Amino acid sequence: MDKLKVGIVGSKFAAMLHAESYKRCPDVVIASVAAVDNLNEFAGTYQIPNRYDDFREMFAGEKLDIVSVCVPNFLHKDVVIAAADAGIKSIICEKPLATSVEDGLAMIKICREKQVRLMYAEDWIFAPALIRAKEIVKEGGIGDILYVKAKETHNGSHSVFAQKKEYCGGGAMIHLGIHPIGFMPWFLESDIVQVMAMITEGAGNNLVHKDYTGEDWAAALVKFEQGARGFVEGNYITCGGMDDKVEIYGTEGNIHVDLTMGSPLTVYSRPGYGYALEKTDFTHGWTKPAVDEFMSLGYINEITHFVNCTRNNLEPQKGTTGEDGLKALSVTFAVYESAEKGQVVKISKQ
Ligand SMILES: NC(=O)c1ccc[n+]([C@@H]2O[C@H](COP(=O)([O-])OP(=O)(O)OC[C@H]3O[C@@H](n4cnc5c(N)ncnc54)[C@H](O)[C@@H]3O)[C@@H](O)[C@H]2O)c1
Repeated sequence: MDKLKVGIVGSKFAAMLHAESYKRCPDVVIASVAAVDNLNEFAGTYQIPNRYDDFREMFAGEKLDIVSVCVPNFLHKDVVIAAADAGIKSIICEKPLATSVEDGLAMIKICREKQVRLMYAEDWIFAPALIRAKEIVKEGGIGDILYVKAKETHNGSHSVFAQKKEYCGGGAMIHLGIHPIGFMPWFLESDIVQVMAMITEGAGNNLVHKDYTGEDWAAALVKFEQGARGFVEGNYITCGGMDDKVEIYGTEGNIHVDLTMGSPLTVYSRPGYGYALEKTDFTHGWTKPAVDEFMSLGYINEITHFVNCTRNNLEPQKGTTGEDGLKALSVTFAVYESAEKGQVVKISKQ
């Protein structure tokens, strides 16, 4: 069986997450990478033979089966459309799908026209703890879901692009809160139809990051089509490492999921050691290091699933289609509209 050939656009954090995950797929080879910095370092680490500083040249010069789009948000549209135009049949786009609903719609339109499989990389949907939680709910273990609370928070983005609204599309909600926003409809099997939100509006109005032009704190109450309520939060004001938590309340019980801090390891170290957890500052004293973040946050299962879809010509699972990415984007921009107007915003179907 020939190995599937992958091209990655981007060479930093998200590209690393994809490359680490492809490494665990035996029927895949990362053939090429395109990026504007860190190119040789990244290609060297993952032994990628072909390197480009222009993604269009990579698409023209290589016969790729899959492309991973791991560039800043504002470039997702251009890269996805160029890949679809080049006839690459499987495109994995990092979250958020785009920096506007209009761009997301354009990407989906082109991919449909070119019969390209556009896959939306919401890793939470593949996180083992959340999959298990969904199984328990499906079994009736907590009765009917009434309320879901979910957040991704940390102390600020490593990416300069994420710090500027013009490149990111917003701030903490589009960059971090988009995970719970993408995850919840999959979990409840019901779309978000209404939001009521509040955000710090960026720059001088931010709580901590006055140099970020997008908000550094955002929260929204949401209503699902099936009637349940939810609470979504994304913020850059949380010290101590990335804190991703989900609480699910049902008529017969509840489930608490700690995606990042719930390690089975507890370490006390006087000298400190290399790495504990995404976005922690140090490793001295008591720490709870992650065992395998690529697995616990869903990246391995996600890439394995997308490779399988490509190999067997299958549609990606619910929650990870381009259309699902667009829904998450619509909810995110409804959050911004609600915060700006101070009103409940209803989400129209795309
Ligand atoms: N799913 C997740 O958990 C997760 C985590 C981190 C980032 N992301 C997403 O991944 C994307 C990238 O984030 P990051 O943290 O790696 O960003 P980053 O700023 O660290 O890296 C950006 C990368 O894009 C490349 N790039 C910039 N302009 C380019 C161009 N014109 N052509 C080719 N390459 C170009 C740069 O060389 C660099 O490798 C973002 O959309 C982000 O939202 C997702």
